[in-house]
Amino acid sequence: MNLINKIKNYINRRVLRTPGVEFFIKNKDLNLRKKHLDFWLDKSRKNKSFKKYFFSEITHNISETNFKIYNDNYKITDEMFSSLSNNGLLIIENALPQKERSKILEYFDELKKNDKFEKNWLKKPFNPKFFDEVNEIMGPTSIYNFRVLNEYSSQFSKEIYGKIVEPTVEFRYLKQKENSKEKKTKGATYLHSDRFLPHFKLYYAPHEITIEDAPLEYVLSSHKINNNFVNFYVNSENFDETDKEFKNFNFEKKIVCVPENTLYVVFTNGFHKRSQFNGNSERSLIFLQYVERFNKFDYLF
Ligand SMILES: [Fe+2]
Repeated sequence: MNLINKIKNYINRRVLRTPGVEFFIKNKDLNLRKKHLDFWLDKSRKNKSFKKYFFSEITHNISETNFKIYNDNYKITDEMFSSLSNNGLLIIENALPQKERSKILEYFDELKKNDKFEKNWLKKPFNPKFFDEVNEIMGPTSIYNFRVLNEYSSQFSKEIYGKIVEPTVEFRYLKQKENSKEKKTKGATYLHSDRFLPHFKLYYAPHEITIEDAPLEYVLSSHKINNNFVNFYVNSENFDETDKEFKNFNFEKKIVCVPENTLYVVFTNGFHKRSQFNGNSERSLIFLQYVERFNKFDYLF
C-alpha cells in the first residue's frame, strides 16, 4: 500500500469515522451527553431514509423476519424492506446462486487451512485475537469479487443510507478451542449496542448455523431511536445488557439460526450479541460493514 492510501485509510478510520460510544466513555456528564446526542441525531433525522428506518414508530403487525428468494433477479421487495424497518432484522434464505456460494466456500477453505493464501485478499488473513477461547481467522477482500452479494449490498445501502456505499468485506472463520461452554466477552457475547447513530451490517452464512454454532441473537425493534433509546445512551455505563436502562428493552428476542446460503441484515445500533459457543464447533460468516465509507461527512453535509 502506498503512503497516500495509508494516509487516506487513517483519516477514514480515525478522523471521519461515524461517532460511536467513545464520547460517552470519556464523558459522564449527562448534559454533555445529551448535547452530543441531540447534535448528531438532528443531523441524521434530516436523511429521509433514516427517518423511515430508525425514527418511525414500531407497528406490531409486521413481525415476519424470514423471506426466501425464489427467482434469479435477487431483488429486495417492499415487503422485505418494511419488515426490516419494523424489526431491525431481515433474513433472506436461498440468497446466492450456487456458483457464487461455491466461490465463497473456496475463500473459506483457505482460511480454514490457514496455510497458503492465493485468493483475492486485500491483505494476508490474520487472527484479530478478540476472543480467548475461540480461534478466529479474518480475511479482508473486495465486494467486487462477488457479483450478487454486491447487488444486495447496493440495494440495502441505497435504501438505508440513501446512496450506494461500498462496504468493507471481512471473511471470518471461528473455531472453538475447548470442549466446554465459552465464557462471556464484553462487546460480543453480551447484548450490546454498537453506536447510537443509524447503523447496519450485512452477514452471509454459506453453511447452516445451528444453536451450537454461536448464532446471532437480536432484540427485535430495539433499533428505533426514540426517547427510550436516547435515555439509554444518556445514562449508560457499559452500553449493554448490564445497564439499568436496558430493562426498557424487554422486547422479543430472535436467535438467528439459519439454513445454508442465507443473508441477513441487522440494525446494530439495536441490541445484539453472538451467542456463546457450546462445545466443539465452527462458524464461517461474511461481514459487510459501511462505517468506513459512510462517515461524519455524510451526516454533516
Ligand atoms: Fe456488535
